[in-house]
Amino acid sequence: MNQVCKVNGKRMEARLAELGEIGKTPENGVHRLALSAEDKQAQKLVAGWMKEAGMMVRQDHFGNLIGRKEGTDPQAPVVMLGSHIDSVPNGGRYDGTIGVIGGIEVVQTICEANITHTHPIEVVAFCDEEGPRFYSGLFGSTGMIGKMTQEKLHMPDDEGISRYDELRSMGLDPDNQQDSVRKPGEIKVYLEMHIEQGPYLQAMNAPVGIVTGIAGPAWLNIKLHGMAGHAGTVPMNMRRDPMSGAAEVILAIEKICGSDPSAPTVGTVGKIAAYPGGQNVIPGTVEFSVDIRDTDEGRRDAAISQIQAAVDEVCKRRGLTAEVKVNERAKPTLCSEQVMAAMERAAGALGLTPPKLVSGAGHDAMCLAEIADMGMIFVRCLDGISHNPKEYASQEDITAGTEVLLATTLEYVK
Ligand code: GLV
Ligand code: MN
Ligand code: MN
Repeated sequence: MNQVCKVNGKRMEARLAELGEIGKTPENGVHRLALSAEDKQAQKLVAGWMKEAGMMVRQDHFGNLIGRKEGTDPQAPVVMLGSHIDSVPNGGRYDGTIGVIGGIEVVQTICEANITHTHPIEVVAFCDEEGPRFYSGLFGSTGMIGKMTQEKLHMPDDEGISRYDELRSMGLDPDNQQDSVRKPGEIKVYLEMHIEQGPYLQAMNAPVGIVTGIAGPAWLNIKLHGMAGHAGTVPMNMRRDPMSGAAEVILAIEKICGSDPSAPTVGTVGKIAAYPGGQNVIPGTVEFSVDIRDTDEGRRDAAISQIQAAVDEVCKRRGLTAEVKVNERAKPTLCSEQVMAAMERAAGALGLTPPKLVSGAGHDAMCLAEIADMGMIFVRCLDGISHNPKEYASQEDITAGTEVLLATTLEYVK
């Protein structure tokens, strides 16, 4: 392949730095929860860059920000690039953002080089990929593929505000979903560049990798109810303490998910709260989240059943009751063989031999794979650290990943 143009790494670096200022935390991370004031400010900034890159910009009814550059055939299926710009609480500056900034860079480079292409290109910043604010993620991409549920749309945050409320206040109309849903055949291919968020590319001394598949996350919410009481007066053997019960369940989760060291099963309790929440009060209720993932859906679901059994056993023994809710159950996803081959060709022409690897993190690509061919490029990140202010990917590596994204895009838009 004759690569006729080069992306502008300095421009991407400057944009990433500017975006990193929105919701910047004292630790130099970002706190830009979906549909927060910071997220909306970031959407405005990114919309400006999409325009600068030569795209028409709109927002669909699920809050997805979409830039579009027409090709010579407006009816031809779209080549879509994207990722997200929302973050987890006190997260990193590269998670999601490099896929959006990289997508914009690809389009701007194509425009500046006056390359004629047949297929339209769209760059999407998907709404609420991360999910911690409203207890479920992949929101905009789920909407785009026509799988939105009323439950997801109306799920409240801790202040009682839902994504529905936020979208309505932005002048969007999530009840009017039909214009925002994309049908199979409308999207030729979906390409997402993302930081690896794991340690393998660094260990292999490779700036860029090609993703073969994405593990399926399931999100549970567990509430254990016991008996609130006085921390000083209730004897230890008369307590029905849900915090001690939660401690046992959490250790059981660690054991269940780690029981087969050759399997990629992982389980995490990332959020916990005790009610009413006082230093001298035995809690009446303890609530915690569970994030559990595997590339094998059956094995992941078997782990969920084992967790449920552990909850039942602990509750029975301790006189507690439980509510277990599954908020999310995403399927593990395979990337398209054709797209992986195109990425390999693109990387090869640039002198790169990217290793193939699985994604433990979830991505909007999982949803898009239901209606289009899908592929992902991973960019090495320092020590595999992510969902942490220390997250870092170098300008050189991001530029290399974006060159592969550009060359793959050029193959598909012809
Ligand atoms: C998104 O970052 C996820 O995998 O939770
Ligand atoms: Mn991400
Ligand atoms: Mn993330």
